[in-house]
Amino acid sequence: MKEELEAIQTEVLQALKQINTQDQLESLRIEYFGRKGKFTDVMKGMGKLSKEERPILGKLANEVRSSLSDAFETAKTELDCKQQEQQLKAESIDITLPGRKPTLGKAHPVMQVLQRTEEIFMQMGFQVVTGPEVETEHYNFDALNTPPNHPARDLHDTFYLTDGHLLRTHTSPVQIRVMENQQPPVRIIVPGKAYRVDYDVSHTPMFHQVEGLLVDRHVTFSELKGVLVSFARQMFGAQTQMRFRPHFFPFTEPSAEVDISCTVCQGKGCRSCGHTGWIEILGAGAVDPEVFRAVNYDPEQVTGFAFGMGVERIANLQFRIPDIRTFYENDLRFLHQF
Ligand code: PHE
Repeated sequence: MKEELEAIQTEVLQALKQINTQDQLESLRIEYFGRKGKFTDVMKGMGKLSKEERPILGKLANEVRSSLSDAFETAKTELDCKQQEQQLKAESIDITLPGRKPTLGKAHPVMQVLQRTEEIFMQMGFQVVTGPEVETEHYNFDALNTPPNHPARDLHDTFYLTDGHLLRTHTSPVQIRVMENQQPPVRIIVPGKAYRVDYDVSHTPMFHQVEGLLVDRHVTFSELKGVLVSFARQMFGAQTQMRFRPHFFPFTEPSAEVDISCTVCQGKGCRSCGHTGWIEILGAGAVDPEVFRAVNYDPEQVTGFAFGMGVERIANLQFRIPDIRTFYENDLRFLHQF
């Protein structure tokens, strides 16, 4: 048995010198150390040895096994190195190929407009606040003087959720949330998402608004005008004209829809403005006393104004996009242009 073990050792060491691939190395290992391998076979004979011989041969067997296992390990490392060297020699790198440019992301056009809008109002001293998109009927309608039978509550316009919740149809509920928690003066803008059941060239079911609210003593409608004109001229250019058309909102009185002179034709009339020279960008008005009562403000003591504008509308004007829905199709060819 001693001779057999020694023979195995010499054989294997010899064979290892001839090995050229990992596959050959593995077959050699199996040939000797596999379940039916030569070394394994010899070990099976151990049982038949006498008590005196067993420890001596056991020790030898262990030495052989461990020295061969080292030899296999070394052979494997050498093969790995050889393989890598060959691969490096075979591959050539074409350094004349242009590198791969990482594609850089940037702000979505709607976000760009939103950021610019925030900047302008912050410079005028407005504070930016946000509120929840899932609202209650109370904040979205009731507290805004919009009673249960009001057409704005129509199923066709509002995404109702379960147990009295809904997706806010405008950013106005944040007016209520802020006034409930803060005494006047209030001077805030509220950028955020709003939702309505609507889908065509100028409407998407999710869209963005910026709400504005200013409450203090002796706030007047002319101050509303001043703030909005200043915003529009910074946003669309110093030549921008603005007009107020009488309108109705349950939460403002008096109310107005506000147009700016068409940015495409400067008011001469073109396709973008439906040949009127004007484009509507927001709704606004003096805060209705009922709204003040809902938040326990005294309408005898304070007055205020509020406005709400459509951000996609403004992005449309800035970038001249004919179909508002393209903002949300996530087509990189479109988005990379801004
Ligand atoms: N919330 C109104 C809308 O979505 C806009 C608005 C806000 C009008 C504030 C007046 C005052 O149409």
